Amino acid sequence: MSTIKGCIFDLDGVIVNTARYHYLAWKKLANELDFDFSEKDNESLKGVSRMESLEILLKVGGLSFDDETKLALAARKNQWYVDYINSMEEDEVLPGAKKFIERARAAGLKIALGSASKNALTILNRLKLADYFDVVIDGTKVSRAKPDPEIFLLAAHELGLPPSDCVVFEDAKAGVEAAKKAGMKCIGVGIRSELADADAVIPGFENIDLCIL
Ligand code: BG6
Ligand code: MG
Repeated sequence: MSTIKGCIFDLDGVIVNTARYHYLAWKKLANELDFDFSEKDNESLKGVSRMESLEILLKVGGLSFDDETKLALAARKNQWYVDYINSMEEDEVLPGAKKFIERARAAGLKIALGSASKNALTILNRLKLADYFDVVIDGTKVSRAKPDPEIFLLAAHELGLPPSDCVVFEDAKAGVEAAKKAGMKCIGVGIRSELADADAVIPGFENIDLCIL
């Protein structure tokens, strides 16, 4: 029998398709700086913090800037991203995600968010999802980004559970690595070839039963 007592969900790409908006905003920045940024390049940004994402993007463009300019570039990208998320609709929650969380709650499991994003609360509020979570750990609460396990360890701590009682749902390689380093079971959301270290991989939450835990 499963000993899982808590579920920790990543946000971008797991509960909501904001990965698309991150990509469009980074691509816009790259184009302004006069280089192209492909969806393939974007894969390595998933789950990675804003400033680290900028570093990866600038490497693709072969550019380097001082810290002040980098902060301004990241703020510029974030403004475009915030414009996108401020016009999101409730139906942009990924299929089956709400229902899965509702079933987990009904079964007595504790629910946490473990996202690197500093915009997580804006998204949860916009999509009326805030009440689904007992604990929200986002990019404003941690100092070390995934693949460091800090986000997930803090989420488990605030849920009052040992890491071994928690399962993490992640769409990013860096997130799967963070979950495994935290000593947690990890279910990848996406394609197995990209999430090889996850304990199991699901394409999304549609038709997924709690017995996956
Ligand atoms: C993660 C995303 O959830 O949050 C990354 O997968 C993003 O792509 C990171 O860079 C930080 O997000 P934000 O909203 O703080 O820029
Ligand atoms: Mg993600």
